[in-house]
Amino acid sequence: NKRHTVLIDVDTFNSQRKILTQKGRDLWHSDFVKMPCSQVAHQKSRWDVISKKLKSLASKKTASVKDVEEAIIKYNPKYKDQWSFDALHTLDQITPHTENYYKTLFPKIAALALKLPSFVNKAIPLLRKGQSAAITMSQVQISCLLANAFFCTFPHRNTSSPNAEYSGYPSINFNSLFGNWSRRKIEKLRAIMHYFKEVTDESTRPKGLVTFERECLSYTDMPTWESCKANLSKLHITSEGQIELEGKGMLQVDFANSLIGGGVLGSGLLQEEILFVINPELIVARLFTEKLEDNECLIITGSQQFSSYSGFGDSFEWAGPYEDQSQRDEWARRKTKILAIDAMNFRHSVDQYRMRHITRELNKAYCGFKGYDGHENPDIATGKWGCGAFNGDPQLKALIQLMAAAKAKRGLAFFTFGDENLKQRLQHIYDLMFAEGITVGKLYKLLHDFSSAKHCDSHVDLFDFIEKNRNSKSHL
Ligand code: APR
Repeated sequence: NKRHTVLIDVDTFNSQRKILTQKGRDLWHSDFVKMPCSQVAHQKSRWDVISKKLKSLASKKTASVKDVEEAIIKYNPKYKDQWSFDALHTLDQITPHTENYYKTLFPKIAALALKLPSFVNKAIPLLRKGQSAAITMSQVQISCLLANAFFCTFPHRNTSSPNAEYSGYPSINFNSLFGNWSRRKIEKLRAIMHYFKEVTDESTRPKGLVTFERECLSYTDMPTWESCKANLSKLHITSEGQIELEGKGMLQVDFANSLIGGGVLGSGLLQEEILFVINPELIVARLFTEKLEDNECLIITGSQQFSSYSGFGDSFEWAGPYEDQSQRDEWARRKTKILAIDAMNFRHSVDQYRMRHITRELNKAYCGFKGYDGHENPDIATGKWGCGAFNGDPQLKALIQLMAAAKAKRGLAFFTFGDENLKQRLQHIYDLMFAEGITVGKLYKLLHDFSSAKHCDSHVDLFDFIEKNRNSKSHL
């Protein structure tokens, strides 16, 4: 009975699912996204100012970064001295004249943003914590919402103080992407601008739908790990390739932040931010997805990849357009499924071996892997989840994901991202455990013993420990 809100006219497609459409866009209410074009209260006059500025930009053949900056500051006067636009200015300056299409693109983004009242004429419910719920919208609606994010029109979204109305939500207005110039920002902006180029061009405008689903694992659905009899499912390990390319058609894991998208609108450029930059439609999830709790995940079906890239972090480079060939399902959504699960961030590495934390990670992974009604539930493409910025142990995280996949009865493709040693060692321990029929419950107990051993000697290696102790009597 999950609430599923569809923001387009329902008549345009068929579905067996329970559908709820929300009439009108003017629900200026704490359960819905507050829109810049709301007619409620004082917002009316704000949209008047915004639309006047955007109309003036949209009527031009070319607009400069200065014009964009002036427009944004006009309706966000409070931030005149706080927001800078130097990254956007630098992008414009360093782009060779022949390749610089930005000046002609800005008016088109403004025109797209102006369509908000007609394109998104239903209220967008917030995907709040503790509630499983879904939203489906068209790629055109997403582009219009993102054009508004580009022009920083969303109200109540610019303060990060703990008491602010949206303090439990990621930021959405793009101002943080425009300032504090860095090479990273430039490369990100190149990808984002390319996205806007595609969506504002009639011939390349995407025509499908995208669904965002927040899933909340109830306490009654949480497995009792120590007595779980499931056998390990199939595992494919490779040190080559990346989740988002070689994992096409699978459930692709986003190594997420609890605030979805992490630092995508700032300087972050790790796995999640790269994913969001090459698939910018994912960014719209920040508009309505409250911070994920320990027992929650977000599944996004149908987003489109627009850009290619190379590198990671500081070496990231936008590598040109990407032609997404993924097929579409009966809902006109691309058959791409992205699963956002946030690992724990371990300041002190030793903390991750506490059983409480191991169980948290098991439940988090299981919440995402479990499989839900209306999904085909393909195998899972993942890798060193939580093992970069979040400091996790790749051996432990690989076993945790293997256990969650076994319980969910789904196969796993594990991308070690060039880590040959992990590939070989994981293959070895998996083959041993698989041949001996080691169950998830038994592995859980082994992790329990390992947790105590690690406490006494921080140098114990998990895979060595399992190899030595797997036949110990206490677990038979
Ligand atoms: N495919 C497969 N493996 C990858 C890929 C990829 N495309 N990109 C990176 N990896 C591997 C790298 O080895 C990396 O060190 O996964 C490891 C972990 O990646 P991180 O992005 O550091 O993930 P995590 O530790 O979970 O950090 C999450 O970083 O991106 C932010 O918003 C995110 O705050 C969150 C944090």
